[in-house]
Amino acid sequence: MNQPVVGFIGAGNMAQAIIGGLIQSDVQPQNIIASDMAEQALDLLSSQFGIQTSLSNSEVAQKSDVIFLAVKPDQLLAVCDEISKVVADKQPLLISIAAGVSESSMAKHLPPGVKIVRCMPNTPALVQTGASGLFANKAVSDDEKKLAESLMQAVGLTVWVDDETLIHAVTAVSGSGPAYFFRFIEAMAKAGLEQGLDEKTAMQLSIQTALGAAKMASNSEKTPLELREAVTSKGGTTAAAINVFNENGLEKLVSDAMLACSERSQELAKEME
Ligand SMILES: NC(=O)c1ccc[n+]([C@@H]2O[C@H](COP(=O)([O-])OP(=O)(O)OC[C@H]3O[C@@H](n4cnc5c(N)ncnc54)[C@H](OP(=O)(O)O)[C@@H]3O)[C@@H](O)[C@H]2O)c1
Repeated sequence: MNQPVVGFIGAGNMAQAIIGGLIQSDVQPQNIIASDMAEQALDLLSSQFGIQTSLSNSEVAQKSDVIFLAVKPDQLLAVCDEISKVVADKQPLLISIAAGVSESSMAKHLPPGVKIVRCMPNTPALVQTGASGLFANKAVSDDEKKLAESLMQAVGLTVWVDDETLIHAVTAVSGSGPAYFFRFIEAMAKAGLEQGLDEKTAMQLSIQTALGAAKMASNSEKTPLELREAVTSKGGTTAAAINVFNENGLEKLVSDAMLACSERSQELAKEME
């Protein structure tokens, strides 16, 4: 089969990250087209990647087999209205990366039978180490699911959920998750500073430690629990630190934080209806 033409409506940070990943995974630039209201963003994309660009969302819809909807959530339904007629004629696969706008809200602004995949990516997509949760509506075929998955795999890991409400849980784990790790790195660097390290050294050590731990957890056959136990000898230094985390309710703290995240995600989704 010929390579599908992949369109992007909205050429901001996320679109740029996904386009960069697609080019690296050998999608031909002439098979990618992006539109945006900002000509500057488009010029940057065509000079960096050699893709086609347009100031017209309808033109992108007209030319694409798969359309990424990569505008901010408050713009999404207006874009759906704008491309609805072309979507009715061409029946492309739509992949929305906008947070919080449900498939049913989108479907109200699009023709019957529209094929929608909702995707919740995260910012490490910018360094091709993203984690994306995907949900497909009933109109999407298995082959189209494979296509959506392979496109998003250009910027990292993908997982499917078969119940759209689980996108809120995906948001709580991976969507907002990078910020939790940034927060933890900040806290570790601050504690290192308090113990006498200079600011730069404390930060370098914290970041590299997070990277190393994530690499080990990702590459090893062992679970994070086994890896932790392997470096936590009884009565040792690591055990002293882990005990303080446990005694101060780390597990409940993380659980409460993630619950707050998914509740907020649900509230925002209601506001978008
Ligand atoms: N960044 C993340 O970590 C992340 C994670 C999960 C999901 N998302 C979702 O990804 C989507 C894109 O995020 P982003 O960070 O890439 O945002 P962004 O950098 O602001 O990109 C959105 C782009 O769309 C353009 N745009 C706005 N209205 C448009 C319209 N009617 N037609 C065509 N283009 C239009 C914007 O132009 P102007 O700047 O001129 O308005 C901007 O260039 C959002 O819906 C967000 O919820 C992002």
